[in-house]
Amino acid sequence: MPEPTAADHDIPFAAWTRQSRQSILREILALTADPNLLSFALGMPAAELFPTPGYARAAQHVLGHDPRALQYGMPLRRLREHVVQLMALRGVECTENEVFITTGAQQAMSLLGQLLVTPGGTVVTEELAYDGMLGSLRPLQPRVLTVPSDPQTGMDVGALEALLAAGERPALVYTIPEGHNPLGASMPSAARRRLAEVAGCYGVTVIEDDAYGLIDYDGDAPPALRSYDGRRVLYVGSFSKIMAPGIRTGWVVAPEAVVQRLSILKQGSDLDVTTFAQLALSAFLDREPFAEHLASLRAAYAVRRDAMLEALDAHFPAAARWSRPRAGMFVWVETPEGVDTTALLRRAVAEAGVAFVPGQAFCAAGGVRGRGGLRLNFSRPSPDQIHDGIRRLGRLLQPRPAVIPLPAGFSPAVGASASAPPRPVPSPSTRPLGPR
Ligand SMILES: Cc1ncc(COP(=O)(O)O)c(C=O)c1O
Repeated sequence: MPEPTAADHDIPFAAWTRQSRQSILREILALTADPNLLSFALGMPAAELFPTPGYARAAQHVLGHDPRALQYGMPLRRLREHVVQLMALRGVECTENEVFITTGAQQAMSLLGQLLVTPGGTVVTEELAYDGMLGSLRPLQPRVLTVPSDPQTGMDVGALEALLAAGERPALVYTIPEGHNPLGASMPSAARRRLAEVAGCYGVTVIEDDAYGLIDYDGDAPPALRSYDGRRVLYVGSFSKIMAPGIRTGWVVAPEAVVQRLSILKQGSDLDVTTFAQLALSAFLDREPFAEHLASLRAAYAVRRDAMLEALDAHFPAAARWSRPRAGMFVWVETPEGVDTTALLRRAVAEAGVAFVPGQAFCAAGGVRGRGGLRLNFSRPSPDQIHDGIRRLGRLLQPRPAVIPLPAGFSPAVGASASAPPRPVPSPSTRPLGPR
């Protein structure tokens, strides 16, 4: 069924909504929606690793004992105290008054965008990046400038400095220094220090999206960018990856004056972060062994990351390159010259029963930068599924053998994999994309 338009309803939508660039993402979603696919596409945590029993105990305790549980409520002080402790794990010192609780990192970015960007103003993002920040800015129709990112070391700070030296003064610079989505990159500490210096020198505000900062595997992640400059860098964190995304709770760490402004802005959209979620989360952190939970999560995802890297080494062509993430949930692959990964996705779904997200979906300013790249999620599939799926995908990337005529009586068996029968390609749907 075609998507209803404003004309169908005779409702005049705001002008900016007509400039939607959803189509490629929508098509990807449609292609990857089949539950029978082995999916490396969406950036979801593994549901079997959610701390469900402990959260259920915490929720039960709150419902049984706390009369505030289902009432309107102020941002919970105890939860902010817990966030202060989490921030210490990221090398950031802050007070409860510098912590602002939000409905997920996504709302944090949306509110920060509203606070900082005047309609039509300039913002800088990485050439390839999670599009949640730009998505939330769309009503403001900003002028978007991009700087390149390296799949191993993240944002090119030199390129940002060149933009600023040329006179650009963006309202914000958005970056994901740890466990980058989609690149899997982590910015070295020297680059973090330089970025903080550059921000201070030119007086620009940086939004540090650290949604994956606590999901690190090798114990050598440097402190968060905010620890290098507590005035210019506004930090965004999330419980989605370390607890569960359904709890919909995230936070901002920022100077108190910023927190007060955010609070006023937020009242305009949803009054309070769900009181029950704040209380249950807080009770979980008070009563359950969170440090053990986090350690077991990191250990389980590290096994999956290693499985994916081993499988890529074993099954992908020598001409392909990929990142080796030390944090987060994604590996970025640069395919051999000439491969268009949006076209490859259609073949992968139809011929191998495997899905991923083609790089173009993350190309902030449109264009072709991500055309040869693809993002693989390793947090959700099991190690066995990872080996199987990467083997199937690798076959599609191997140079095709020349067709040699077979003797009479033989039937060719080239093409579809024996373990994955060809499947019909679904037509585009209109469901929203969800986490990416
Ligand atoms: C880099 C990045 N930032 C923010 C988010 C949104 O997180 P939340 O669930 O806290 O809104 C995501 C979700 O996948 C993400 O990948």
